[in-house]
Amino acid sequence: MANNFRVSVKTIELKILFLTHSFNSLAQRLFVELTRCGHSISIEFDINDAVTCQAVELFQPDLIIAPFLKRAIPETIWRKHTCFIVHPGIIGDRGPSALDWAIMHDRQEWGVTVLQANAQMDAGDIWASEIFPMRFARKSSLYRHEVVEAATRAILTAIVRFQSDTFKPLPLDYSCPGVLGRLHAPVRQLDRSINWQQDKSLTILKKIHAADGFPGVLDTLYGESYFLFDACREECLTGRPGTVIAKRNNAICRATVDGAIWIGHLKQKNNTESTFKLAATMALKNHLTDVPEISFDPFSKEPGNTYRDIWFEQKDAIGYLHFTFYNGAMDTKQCERLREAYLKATERSIRVIVLMGGPDFWCNGIHLNHIERAISPADESWCNINAMNDLVQAIITTNQQLTIAALQGNAGAGGVFLSLAADYIFTRDSIILNPHYKSMGNLYGSEYWTYLLPRRVNESHVKSLTQNRLPIGALEARNIGLMDDCFALSPIDFKKKITQIAETIANDPNFPVLLQRKVHQRQVDEQQKSLQNYRDEELRHMQLNFYGFDPSYHVARYHFVHKIPHSWTPRYLARHHHL
Ligand code: COA
Repeated sequence: MANNFRVSVKTIELKILFLTHSFNSLAQRLFVELTRCGHSISIEFDINDAVTCQAVELFQPDLIIAPFLKRAIPETIWRKHTCFIVHPGIIGDRGPSALDWAIMHDRQEWGVTVLQANAQMDAGDIWASEIFPMRFARKSSLYRHEVVEAATRAILTAIVRFQSDTFKPLPLDYSCPGVLGRLHAPVRQLDRSINWQQDKSLTILKKIHAADGFPGVLDTLYGESYFLFDACREECLTGRPGTVIAKRNNAICRATVDGAIWIGHLKQKNNTESTFKLAATMALKNHLTDVPEISFDPFSKEPGNTYRDIWFEQKDAIGYLHFTFYNGAMDTKQCERLREAYLKATERSIRVIVLMGGPDFWCNGIHLNHIERAISPADESWCNINAMNDLVQAIITTNQQLTIAALQGNAGAGGVFLSLAADYIFTRDSIILNPHYKSMGNLYGSEYWTYLLPRRVNESHVKSLTQNRLPIGALEARNIGLMDDCFALSPIDFKKKITQIAETIANDPNFPVLLQRKVHQRQVDEQQKSLQNYRDEELRHMQLNFYGFDPSYHVARYHFVHKIPHSWTPRYLARHHHL
């Protein structure tokens, strides 16, 4: 591709309409990046052609971008407007299962292409493309990291080219030697199916990884059909291939012909009722009474390859506490286990505790799926938020260590406020934060946010962050004081940087003074208004959300968990309605 094509650029601000199936992580990232460049963005969900046409009519965009679209753009639109489609595949790749096939075909390199919408799906002229090395990882993880990064670069390049007078997008030409992609049919469940009597662990992992996030691999467990998600390797356990040989917290362990794998999440296939993902041990509860629980000690020294959602590593005077919960959602038990591990860490003779979250997500707050599944969702919401608050409180009141929140992945709702409990907050600069609860049916929120947020940002930012319901980039978060700093680093280099920062703090000759200052500040704050007071006030609002007459939170949670398609675009995103 003409990556080194010289263009003369008029840097003008554009009116850009996002046409997207949902405001997913890629759409949010592009929203943040393009807003940062000065462009004016409005968003319309792909509901039907009439709504799309009306949005274009109202907004009169200079450019349309489709970050995540499942249907074709109406011809009346692409004939009149330039529409960029973000395709998660290399040049020439076509079809809806781009990343799935790339994983299943063991591609060493993959990419993202920005092409112009025309009559043929994924076959339009090419404005930009980017490639990246593949990792052996879940599709959802590759999407959130490599695809989002490559798509952001490609869209920024494509916009520069769009603004030039000279750039002409390249037609797709399969006779060009560099065009390695091909048209692929959608992956069927038949292509994904696991033969437990033949497939080795690695093959099974690859199949589940290629379907992770959506749609999962259809399989049978205890005579019922489930989609499998969230798999990882087991190094020691063995058994009869296909059988469930162990359970641990939320996951089950299934034997394979050459070892075993863990499966963290299942979604039951039910042709008559809507179902949603649940922890495997919750979905199979009645069948697992005789299956041994093989626990894992988060403080174990050499765990090898196995399933673990919380673990601790110590290096000199620094403790690193990792918590990698699927989709960043933390249920009551997970909050309790994490708090227990955290308190145990505080008893060690260490000076700094680094809260690492997970590589894909830092945290997205209470576990809405498990709440939805509970006999009383209101009671479970109450337990979950209280368990979360107990964890946050433990971090805020730590008086023997300084604490760092190191955000490797995105955070949303209560997850953002959990990070504010730490003394220092550092992030990768590509992460996206959603520091608000309001989209979840006007949920008030807790996690001591009414104490933690004004500690970091001014009143007007408290209001805009919590009320506007928009995502915010790491740079913007740093600029307003929400975070301390952010770094444009790869996940590996970010960890190295965090280690350096933690070591600097731990080795600071002033450490006792820094610690004393923090403890003193907490005492001053406590005298002004006690933590219990903040908590009680927040929980009074939450009680109304959970148990009051207004069912908005329960309705919004139902829609979120069951992935009910949008019937309209929220007005805070569809700005063209305000013009
Ligand atoms: N509980 C359960 N599942 C959650 C979750 C939560 N709190 N937050 C996210 N998820 C799941 C989503 O259902 C989705 O599941 P999938 O694997 O089936 O696709 C996955 O995590 C990714 O979420 P998605 O919404 O696609 O990610 P995003 O990057 O587009 O958006 C958020 C991020 C945080 C804006 C969005 O996930 C969200 O609003 N989450 C709810 C936050 C919340 O209200 N928490 C409760 C109050 S503390």
